[in-house]
Amino acid sequence: MRHILVTGGLGFIGVRLLKHLSRNPDVFIHNIDNLSLGVTHFDTLVPADRRARIKTYIDDINNQDLVSAILRDNNIHQVYHLAAESHVDRSISGPRAFYESNVMGTLSMVEGCRNHIEQGGRDDFRFLHVSTDEVFGDLGPEDPPFSETSSYHPSSPYSASKAASDFIIKSSHRTFGFPAMVTNCSNNFGPGQNAEKLIPTIVNSLAKEHKIPIYGTGKNIRDWLFVDTHVAYLEAIMAAGSPGQSYLIGGDMELTNLDLVARIHKIFNQRRPDQAKAFEDIFEFVSDRKGHDRRYAIDTNRLKSHFPNVAKVNFNRALEETVDFHLANND
Ligand SMILES: NC(=O)c1ccc[n+]([C@@H]2O[C@H](COP(=O)([O-])OP(=O)(O)OC[C@H]3O[C@@H](n4cnc5c(N)ncnc54)[C@H](O)[C@@H]3O)[C@@H](O)[C@H]2O)c1
Repeated sequence: MRHILVTGGLGFIGVRLLKHLSRNPDVFIHNIDNLSLGVTHFDTLVPADRRARIKTYIDDINNQDLVSAILRDNNIHQVYHLAAESHVDRSISGPRAFYESNVMGTLSMVEGCRNHIEQGGRDDFRFLHVSTDEVFGDLGPEDPPFSETSSYHPSSPYSASKAASDFIIKSSHRTFGFPAMVTNCSNNFGPGQNAEKLIPTIVNSLAKEHKIPIYGTGKNIRDWLFVDTHVAYLEAIMAAGSPGQSYLIGGDMELTNLDLVARIHKIFNQRRPDQAKAFEDIFEFVSDRKGHDRRYAIDTNRLKSHFPNVAKVNFNRALEETVDFHLANND
């Protein structure tokens, strides 16, 4: 058995990563998550035979004794670090928890892992830090997309805390040779995302026949990445990425928020024709988020040339699967 540590494995992306990695019967996964969101779709989305090879510790990544004990007792050789406070709106109403989990939590993970390596951990030890493209700030309509050389311009407390965590990783590699890689991805979507996020909000509003709240004018552009494509890239980067490098992961699917609403509306009307309404009747504009980034986009050429074997899921099929999940789960 190879023992792997995942942090944040009860969150949206973490659950899909656990499902993906645990398909390998030779892998045993330890997962630390403090369940700060209070909900997880782990039991419904990860099959029982795979759950048997995953041990979850409901605890905080700032608990260094726990982190050290898991690393040492299981001779962990790979760490996927996803645990973070992740909701931008929550970071605006209460930033402190974001710095405690995202900055101090990442420092705690790095210190625990460096100590583990110094105490005789495996030579092939690797650490993958999962971050966001929001650290780069936003783009104008004609700007070239973000790339590995983009500079950091975080806008919100969330993105500032993630930027700080990226610098902890990059400086630890430079100063101590810490064998870590950083990934910066665009907006994920897929089954199991928290109900507060945009796509679940759209589906749930349609199902409940409430108006969909759209920030500002609905013209903000996001690049949508299916979560299963994302976790497949994470596994490939863990296996063959170079420590000290950053990898940008995008979905090559830039859409305005209104375009996204229109696509989901179309799927919804096919699924629930008795509830179908005209497009102009399903949403309302609400005051814009403070500091709202206009556009994110990622240049995926380097990613695709380094990891050509990662298969991409068709966007419309992935969106249908996501809509179906939220309609079935009534969250
Ligand atoms: N969802 C996206 O679109 C997206 C995009 C870019 C980057 N990311 C990054 O990917 C990672 C996972 O995102 P997600 O969407 O799954 O978020 P999520 O909020 O659904 O999951 C994060 C998980 O981390 C856990 N957590 C938070 N603080 C913790 C702490 N101090 N100790 C232990 N566990 C803690 C939470 O309980 C939660 O289960 C995050 O690091 C996020 O910044 C997400």
